[in-house]
Amino acid sequence: MITKETVDKVLDTARIEEVVGDFVDLKKRGTSLIGNCPFHNEKTPSFYVSVAKGIYKCFGCGVGGDAVKFVMELEKYSYPEAIRFLANKYHIEIQETERTPAQMAAQDKRESLYVLSQWAGKFFKNHLWESDLGKSIGLSYFKERGYREDIIKKFELGYSPDQWTALVDEANKNGFADSYLTEIGLAIARDDKSLYDRFRGRVIFPIQNLTGRIIGFGGRTLKTEKSVPKYVNSPESEIYHKSDVLYGLNHAKKAIADHDLCYLVEGYADVIAMHQAGVENVVSSSGTSLTTGQIKLISRFTKNVVILYDGDAAGIKASLRGTDMLLEEGLNVKVLLFPDGNDPDSYIREVGSTAFKDYIALHQEDFIFYKTNILLKDAKDDPIKRAEVIRDVVESIALIPDEIKVSVFIRQCSSLLDIEERILLSELNKIRINKAKASEKKINQQNNATGSLAVGPYGEMPPPDFFLNEQERNEAGTTEVVAPQQITAETLQEREIIRILLNYGQELVTWEGDGDVPVAPYLLGSIDDIDFEDKPSAIIVAEFKKQAENFEVPEAKFFLSHKNQDVVNLAVDSIASRYEISPNWNDDKRKIHVTREIEHLKVLIIQAIYRIKKRKFEKEIHKIREELKTPLSEQDMDIALSKYQKLKEAEQTLGQLLGNTVVK
Ligand code: GTP
Ligand code: MN
Repeated sequence: MITKETVDKVLDTARIEEVVGDFVDLKKRGTSLIGNCPFHNEKTPSFYVSVAKGIYKCFGCGVGGDAVKFVMELEKYSYPEAIRFLANKYHIEIQETERTPAQMAAQDKRESLYVLSQWAGKFFKNHLWESDLGKSIGLSYFKERGYREDIIKKFELGYSPDQWTALVDEANKNGFADSYLTEIGLAIARDDKSLYDRFRGRVIFPIQNLTGRIIGFGGRTLKTEKSVPKYVNSPESEIYHKSDVLYGLNHAKKAIADHDLCYLVEGYADVIAMHQAGVENVVSSSGTSLTTGQIKLISRFTKNVVILYDGDAAGIKASLRGTDMLLEEGLNVKVLLFPDGNDPDSYIREVGSTAFKDYIALHQEDFIFYKTNILLKDAKDDPIKRAEVIRDVVESIALIPDEIKVSVFIRQCSSLLDIEERILLSELNKIRINKAKASEKKINQQNNATGSLAVGPYGEMPPPDFFLNEQERNEAGTTEVVAPQQITAETLQEREIIRILLNYGQELVTWEGDGDVPVAPYLLGSIDDIDFEDKPSAIIVAEFKKQAENFEVPEAKFFLSHKNQDVVNLAVDSIASRYEISPNWNDDKRKIHVTREIEHLKVLIIQAIYRIKKRKFEKEIHKIREELKTPLSEQDMDIALSKYQKLKEAEQTLGQLLGNTVVK
């Protein structure tokens, strides 16, 4: 893992205006910088960068955070990836923590496999562009397919010489171990342990991960014999987990987020041809059926997927399979078929880029309707088959988590199938009840096997990161794990405390009898008996308390790189209050507002304390009321009643006090 020192150095060095400035055109506005938000489409800028605070905040779409968060969101990096990216930008050397020999060996092995893959990619690329046969066979093949040179370079396509050991020999010369060559499948071992090249005489499509590192290869034969497999692919390895990789995603991710749409195609060739045609939000599952890992990957960037498949029978079947999984993940799925068995690549060659783009814009069909029509065509007038179609279609609809969409689909399918909505709905309910029963059974079985799970803030399910260990959680970054957050009046009271702590925690305030005390310890000392219910607030308070043991007050900055996304958001919102950087406040007004709040800090603090205490009293009063409704012994009744009296008095006093302290 990257050391804390390196992380701190990166955080200290990275300047928000420089990091954001690489991607957004920023203009000065008061003490802030302002530009068009890169996370949503807008014409008037509502994206603010505060140089002093080191944060960005968009008042249009609500995103915000520090420099690290910015690159994580924009480039879809994990936390460590973002740190590496920034370290690289600022030429900071990355130190890794001491590792056990086993960890070191594992890490070094992975790193060696990456290095070897990278090297092999270069080997294939060099052969394509520089060797005579590479040029006359490989490069001319790509050119005959109509690929432009810039596209061939962008996808780092290559050529593997048609010899048994061209790559093996060169790799050995460069000191790469045989075991690594076979591990990632660049070479295959014979019985006598001698190696030969896997990709002999094929053109090469390198497969890259999200950050652009080569992790495997696809090799296409140039022969036309049926006996030769068209593609040979790298095997699964420590660096290539096929179920978590989508071909082309590293080139497509930004376009997918920009268009809020992802095209899903079958082949390497389709991805490349569409890029060349100017459609860059496209990925391929490379001939295998979609996995949940791949779907999760897509849904980090968009919820809208269009599946582009061959129009032949196999293509149609393929598009029905795998799609249910997409629906289940809450994605909006559309389907698009090409005429006469074309795939995207061949269709572009047939009609040209412009007509292709028009075609895909016009021929997308909601998966549910597509499926309904296909099945209906098959069933014709056979009543039994039609009943099956209905069940099949409703089963797909039942997977969709969004109720509104479900009702729209039910209505439209009812007219397509020419059957009353009521009947479809009752079918839908039947399926749902069965599913609920099945999942209840599964949960019970799991609970019996592992001991019951505590009922926590996530209901009876484990939190989403329950199964990760500490390191995996750190490495997974923070983007995916977000617990649903409910904002209530109570939450707001708690968050007001957090806002005061983060903005004024270190300010000194003079209190009668106590002298000068920083805000944080005073405030926290006064509400020591309060349990924070809002999770991110509770986390921040706990950190304040922890640091208070050493007489320290954490800075707001500390929470901007917290691994819990809700904490980051709360911290950003607390220190980027709208008043301070809203364009409606010119510089002078802004100052007035801020000085005012500081002047009235005491009142602000007291009010926050009173409010939150009042709430606690109210809750206890409510509890006692409930208690009094149950039969109690006389003694218990007396105790409860006197407690009730005291609480009621305290609550009223607080109410009066609150009424008397008004912040103007
Ligand atoms: P072209 O024929 O060059 O246009 O290739 P394509 O990318 O369009 O391939 P196709 O549509 O035939 O197949 C889709 C994907 O399935 C390919 O990109 C490969 O990832 C995979 N695939 C195709 N043929 C084979 C094969 O023979 N073996 C394996 N393992 N995978 C294959
Ligand atoms: Mn093809």
